[in-house]
Amino acid sequence: MNAAGIEHPRPVLVVDIDALDVQQAARVVRGADIYSEVIGGNRPSAEFLEREPLAALLIGVGTDKTADLIAALRSQDVPVALVGAEACALPAPEDVRRLADNADIGAYLLEDLGIEPAWTTELVIADQIAKIRAQVGKSRLICGLSGGVDSAVAAALVQKAVGDQLTCVLVDHGLMRADEIEQVERDFVAATGANLMIVDARERFLTALEGVSDPEEKRKIIGHEFIEVFEAAAREVVASGSAEDEPVGFLVQGTVYPDVVESGVGDGAKNIKSHHNVGGLPEDLQFALVEPLRELFKDEVRQVGLALGVPESIVWRQPFPGPGLGIRIVGAITAERIDILRAADAILRDELTQAGLDREIWQCPVVLLADVRSVGVTDGERTYGHPIVLRPVASEDAMTAEWFRLPYDLLARVSDRITAEVPDVNRVVLDVTRKPPGTIEWE
Ligand code: XMP
Repeated sequence: MNAAGIEHPRPVLVVDIDALDVQQAARVVRGADIYSEVIGGNRPSAEFLEREPLAALLIGVGTDKTADLIAALRSQDVPVALVGAEACALPAPEDVRRLADNADIGAYLLEDLGIEPAWTTELVIADQIAKIRAQVGKSRLICGLSGGVDSAVAAALVQKAVGDQLTCVLVDHGLMRADEIEQVERDFVAATGANLMIVDARERFLTALEGVSDPEEKRKIIGHEFIEVFEAAAREVVASGSAEDEPVGFLVQGTVYPDVVESGVGDGAKNIKSHHNVGGLPEDLQFALVEPLRELFKDEVRQVGLALGVPESIVWRQPFPGPGLGIRIVGAITAERIDILRAADAILRDELTQAGLDREIWQCPVVLLADVRSVGVTDGERTYGHPIVLRPVASEDAMTAEWFRLPYDLLARVSDRITAEVPDVNRVVLDVTRKPPGTIEWE
């Protein structure tokens, strides 16, 4: 029970016994409105028991140590189930249930064990608001917005909890897609009432990136400039308070539960994803972190966002890389090239939205091959223009991906529109490569 009298539900522990899909099982539990936590099967049994689990689901093939874990859980009357066909090979006491697959988890927890489905969006919001208030008191906070769902929902929660103590900062590096800055400036602010500082750093980024075509070099420069611009903005926010205001003590981050699991709490060494994003602020700007989404999966973040009125265009935004359009121009970045790519991307996204496909595809990079030209013909005149690549993908987690089969008539419309409406583009091509071996982005 916390200060506001909100009871955080006890977890169902989802135990990673050398399984690949342990997060999937944890999500299935959440889907039954029951709180779940992932934990590595090789942790000491005390770590399991101190969480006072309502039940434990063991995912994967067991070892000798698994038998000890089961015994420890059973000695405290924690119901235990083994999930997955391979788990059948594991010798286990009679009272340990065997579930064929994830599909059986909901009925087992809700019906057989009678666990209360208490993990609702309303509870998550109330619980987090109480936690944020208790953590930050009257201190001020800063949140960097990227235009993406995680930072927007984290900011919306903090705004709901402590209102004007929060200042949001959005760095406009000039590599965002059409309308993205406006969506935050107009719709997010209207929905949440958050204080927003937009830093127009477009010229600065263009200058720093001049003549650079190596992808890693681009990332390095964008990351570096971003940190510098954000730092300057943070200093401004720190200096801006009135005499009665408390100092800025906290930085809000949109860390989500898969990040937490992948960084090791579940010992989920298999799912390690390289984190492309740069971090780290200088010592005089060391804030404590507020991470209101740490317990949530992406679909739960979206539900919280919708309940808080965060605009749908942000809540349902597909993944978009931090370096933005900068790594979708194969070749050096110039203002003209960004404009070409942004216009082509806007057409593709418009057509996907009209076709109702936004939530079916994972993401669809649109790539400008800026150093490639091919011959074409427009109105009887020879052209020598650039190709645009469409890279629609289906994926669960971006680690692997399949190319998404977009309908031919949609592809035809997109191609017609891009070649007619975007200057200097005379060819549209489709990328039909799986990941692996192809990555999702071209750079
Ligand atoms: P790849 O191209 O590695 O992309 O298959 C996997 C996922 O990561 C995104 N991505 C990035 N995200 N900074 C980011 O924040 C980056 O530098 C970056 N590079 C790739 C990509 O959009 C996809 O969702």
